[in-house]
Amino acid sequence: MMRNTLQIVVGLSILFIFTAITVAANRGPGTIDIYGGSKGKVPFPHAQHQDRLKDCNVCHKVFPQEKEAIKKMKAKGTLKPKKVMNLQCIKCHKAEKKAGNPYGPVKCSTCHKK
Ligand code: HEC
Ligand code: HEC
Ligand code: HEC
Repeated sequence: MMRNTLQIVVGLSILFIFTAITVAANRGPGTIDIYGGSKGKVPFPHAQHQDRLKDCNVCHKVFPQEKEAIKKMKAKGTLKPKKVMNLQCIKCHKAEKKAGNPYGPVKCSTCHKK
């Protein structure tokens, strides 16, 4: 009886660790074309941001780590257009610029090619 419980606990722990490693390893693509609706696709260097920012949740607290998450949420009405752009992308780039650090684009045409 005790032995079986121990085996189950050990088995589940191993399963949990493997799942955690697999999930942690899925960083998604290094570059992503973000869906920008009427403004076309926005090229986004994902890996570069992951390496610099370390914390995934800086962005993923607002949308899940899924393919086309932003597009899906906008379609469902659970995410307003320009929210990610204004409250994440531009907000952070402007703050970094102000702080005198390397920063990303703040001008419309640098992100939106059309
Ligand atoms: C600076 C913002 C930002 C950070 C930080 C970030 N991501 Fe993302 N991630 C995005 C965006 C934007 C998308 C694209 C969503 C879409 O296409 O709608 C995305 C998509 C993804 C996807 C789905 C990719 C696909 O198309 O299959 C995964 C998986 C993912 N991220 C994992 C991570 C992990 C793990 C981390 C932390 C190590 C991380 N992200 C950090 C912005 C970020
Ligand atoms: C740092 C890059 C960046 C900059 C700078 C930027 N945008 Fe965006 N924009 C995005 C991203 C990413 C999206 C898609 C996510 C969202 O809607 O929040 C977007 C979405 C949009 C949308 C919504 C389209 C739709 O139909 O869903 C409009 C409109 C837009 N941008 C206009 C502008 C204008 C005007 C400016 C200049 C004042 C600007 N953007 C500057 C990245 C940027
Ligand atoms: C929390 C801060 C933060 C957020 C959020 C963020 N960025 Fe950035 N981004 C940076 C910094 C810092 C740099 C400059 C990196 C460097 O020079 O190494 C940068 C650089 C960039 C660059 C230029 C890359 C290059 O090599 O020239 C693009 C394009 C960009 N960001 C797009 C986006 C878009 C689109 C979003 C929103 C989906 C976003 N960023 C969200 C901090 C952020």
